[in-house]
Amino acid sequence: MNTKLALVVTLFLASCAVSKGRFLSFSKQLDRYSFPPNFSFGVGSSAYQYEGAFAEGGRTQSTWDNFTHAYPERTNMDNGDIAVDFYHRYKDDIKLIKEMNMDTFRFSISWSRILPSGKVSDGVNSEGIQFYKNLIDELINNGIKPFVTIYHWDIPQVLEDEYGGFLSPRIIDEFRNFAKLCFQEFGDKVDMWITFNEPYIYSVAGYDKGTKAMGRCSKWVNSLCVAGDSSTEPYLVSHHLLLAHAAAVEEFRNCDKISQDGKIGMVLSPVWAEPYDVASHADKEAVARSLASYVGWHLDPLVFGDYPETIKNNAGNRLPSFTKEQSESIKNSFDFIGINYYTARFVAHQLHRDPTRLSFSTDQHLEYKVTNCNGDYISSESDGSKLLYTYPEGIRKILNYVKDKYNNPTIYITENAITVDGCDVRGYSAWSLLDNFEWERGYTMRFGLHYVDYADDLKRYAKDSAKWFKKFLERSEQFTPLDLFKSTKKWWSALQMI
Ligand SMILES: *[C@@H]1O[C@H](CO)[C@@H](O)[C@H](O)[C@H]1NC(C)=O
Ligand SMILES: *[C@@H]1O[C@H](CO)[C@@H](O)[C@H](O)[C@H]1NC(C)=O
Repeated sequence: MNTKLALVVTLFLASCAVSKGRFLSFSKQLDRYSFPPNFSFGVGSSAYQYEGAFAEGGRTQSTWDNFTHAYPERTNMDNGDIAVDFYHRYKDDIKLIKEMNMDTFRFSISWSRILPSGKVSDGVNSEGIQFYKNLIDELINNGIKPFVTIYHWDIPQVLEDEYGGFLSPRIIDEFRNFAKLCFQEFGDKVDMWITFNEPYIYSVAGYDKGTKAMGRCSKWVNSLCVAGDSSTEPYLVSHHLLLAHAAAVEEFRNCDKISQDGKIGMVLSPVWAEPYDVASHADKEAVARSLASYVGWHLDPLVFGDYPETIKNNAGNRLPSFTKEQSESIKNSFDFIGINYYTARFVAHQLHRDPTRLSFSTDQHLEYKVTNCNGDYISSESDGSKLLYTYPEGIRKILNYVKDKYNNPTIYITENAITVDGCDVRGYSAWSLLDNFEWERGYTMRFGLHYVDYADDLKRYAKDSAKWFKKFLERSEQFTPLDLFKSTKKWWSALQMI
């Protein structure tokens, strides 16, 4: 049988983009019944960005605690010590999710909260396990499906100190054991699992540019980096991460706690790319390299068992290779791929030849730009930081790119699946439920569907986007086969307008 390639699209949208962007104007005529039955809508979060309670309930330091405390100037003098206090307020926050009529809630497990020494062999923190069990029960009791990310960037500091975390192959079995514990403890109530959130960002921001924890890179890339090597470490980290993913999926498939409906995947975060000069062959090739790095670096191994040729050619012997066995273990180690899509760029060919200045980024021989060769912006709409230009057509292009490049025949379309140009898309999750700790930007970027008043006891206020979702997701009393027929028709015609 063919590999299932279902796409769970988690659109990462600035709230201003939701309230003002074209996504909204297009979606206005739609409601939840414009989508196939069982298409799910949800919101996301992650442990370090939300929980707080950093030294409570038996939790030990993660690398993010260490990074924000050791280098506060690198995270806007902010940290996740309290974050949005989700650890204490999750019951009230689940009411907000329910109020918006959402179907799913995505959250991640803080590794050092359930395994204070990082290792299963040293003992499990039952208080940490209980927190997640309570959270899962509260969601289910409110009719919301839990969507669990096992790892959202917060490795226990002890593992970093002991052997450099994901720089060492020792992380593979450590991660396998951590994931296995999650499946055993939570697998009876959780069907949807993500191993890793955005490996590209993890490796590039953490080890190539040094902007996020671990904050490592070559000195010439970023003088704030205390240690690191941008020419080798991003490749090494992603290599171990892919092997750790495969190990976790093996445990998932052997775990008798996981139900028949259980699904596991990885979440990627591609930036869509358009050529800087459409007449330039070199720029078009640069676009292909950009997509190979954003998508193929991690998806090629999952689908084909090896890295893309362009990555291999440009990195040479700095890219580790998979043994035949490893390649087999990684291939098909997923039920779905999550796509976090938030923006697009123009891409120009740019040769980087300086052998003293090698890095993952320069290895791609390209340059990202917000305008093309005619001076046109990729989009007239962006968030305040000019980081996220709204480019809604990018999501359709990404989905088609993934469908085509990763073999049409391997896409498994079920009867009730939503199909965008033949892509199997099952759900949508917005980032994020609340404003929260946005990594190196601290609390300055507000992605929440709810505003958090940091000056007044972290009070939550529904933004227009939350109100919009509430209306959009309203459930009608009855849903007849005729409605189903109408909604399918409505959905198809809506698609033509994307
Ligand atoms: C929706 O999901 C439920 C539970 O997973 C399943 O029983 C049902 O058959 C699904 N319905 C459709 C129309 O796919
Ligand atoms: C960060 O971790 C290093 C290595 O364990 C340690 O020496 C340092 O004290 C830590 N810094 C903070 C602020 O926790």
